[in-house]
Amino acid sequence: MEQGYFITGTDTCAGKTWATIALMRYFKQQGKSVAGMKPVAAGCSFPCAAWECQDGRLKNADALLIQENASLKIDYDLINPYAYELPVSPHIAGINNPVNLSKIVERFNVLKELAEIVLVEGAGGWYAPLNDYEDISDLAKALALPVIIVVAIRLGCINHAKLTWQAIQHSRITCAGWIAVCVDPDMLKHDENIHTIKTALNIPLLGVLPYLASADFDLLASKLAL
Ligand SMILES: Nc1ncnc2c1ncn2[C@@H]1O[C@H](COP(=O)(O)OP(=O)(O)OP(=O)(O)O)[C@@H](O)[C@H]1O
Ligand SMILES: [Mg+2]
Repeated sequence: MEQGYFITGTDTCAGKTWATIALMRYFKQQGKSVAGMKPVAAGCSFPCAAWECQDGRLKNADALLIQENASLKIDYDLINPYAYELPVSPHIAGINNPVNLSKIVERFNVLKELAEIVLVEGAGGWYAPLNDYEDISDLAKALALPVIIVVAIRLGCINHAKLTWQAIQHSRITCAGWIAVCVDPDMLKHDENIHTIKTALNIPLLGVLPYLASADFDLLASKLAL
């Protein structure tokens, strides 16, 4: 069993967070202690009504969900060291506080000591820039985690899945498999699309997460097999 996975996706809004939370629930159901990270998040606010949010710092919805689903209570700053307010590419949002990969690796190493499995959600897709010279692929490399590709099953997904898989191979990073996430209730021919991607990628399909009008992460976890 690996110590963790890096969750990337075919794009932004591909279903990475939903898949990450489903994976956290899956490993917890297997009796493992689980932590997660959303190291770089763009699109953060000074939250929310809940009292535990009100500590005067920027927070991100994905990171809060990851925090809430961990096996133990974890400080927000370990989960999301880079929280940018603007919902734009991190290399633009972070112009005054650019991402430093070694800071993220440091936080990850702390989390690794706290939990058996650490899931790290990327930002955007595989080549999303994090600063002026590094992108998500560099972060995955620095963390030395096997990658899971989240493929949003929508029109264009075959092309996006093949491009992402080729890019990961080009980066010479181990890929543990892919997860199909049905994000579009109007998508026609789901099964045919998933079959085509399965044939093209030649890596394990770890689960097909059905479209749900509202989130049920335990149900989604039941669709996974690693
Ligand atoms: N299984 C599903 N069924 C229905 N809707 C889904 C499902 N998975 C994800 N979604 C929808 O798609 C949206 C995007 O999903 P998610 O937030 O997981 O994407 P992401 O790749 O993490 O996005 P980001 O790049 O912003 O981090 C969610 O807000 C949710 O509304
Ligand atoms: Mg997300």
